[in-house]
Amino acid sequence: MSIGRRGFIKGLGTTAAALPALAAGRETAAPGEGQPVRTLRLTVNGVAHRLDVEPRRTLAGVLRRELRLTGTKVACDRASCGACTVLLDGRPVLSCHLLALQADGAAVTTIEGLAGRGRLHPLQEAFIRCDATQCGFCTPGMIMALAGFLQADRQPTRDGIARALAGNLCRCGAYPHILDAAEQAAREIGRR
Ligand code: FES
Ligand code: FES
Repeated sequence: MSIGRRGFIKGLGTTAAALPALAAGRETAAPGEGQPVRTLRLTVNGVAHRLDVEPRRTLAGVLRRELRLTGTKVACDRASCGACTVLLDGRPVLSCHLLALQADGAAVTTIEGLAGRGRLHPLQEAFIRCDATQCGFCTPGMIMALAGFLQADRQPTRDGIARALAGNLCRCGAYPHILDAAEQAAREIGRR
């Protein structure tokens, strides 16, 4: 058994301090668990929602669990990979790192809300055309980060696109195809 500096036991997902309770069949409370629920008002992909949520819940968790919008992925769960990127009032945010209540009253766009009128978004089309996905786990976050970026910059350079994606990691290393797709989508959006 390998115990880390904070008492976290590698591979078990728990701490040494929690072991007695687990051995006795009791579950330990997560931080913030049991706090009174609060009302969250959120417009997601154009649909208004009113939800009762615990203050500790993240936006990513509420989107995926309560609203069943599982296109938003959670990989690192600690603001390091960009997989969970959604648009909050048009700007890309890491939804694993935002409490749902911090988004109260906002408009959220997820990957499910990007296509419109039976047509894929130019970014989605370009990702398919350029073969910019391998496992695809990073793809929703990449596309949402780019969607926010291309709203602000209609004529981006390849370097600018790379900088906009600096917080989005692709473990499959599909970066060259992702940059190709972003450039093609930018040209398409610029023509509209
Ligand atoms: S899952 Fe949110 S940044 Fe990695
Ligand atoms: S396509 Fe697999 S992580 Fe990016």
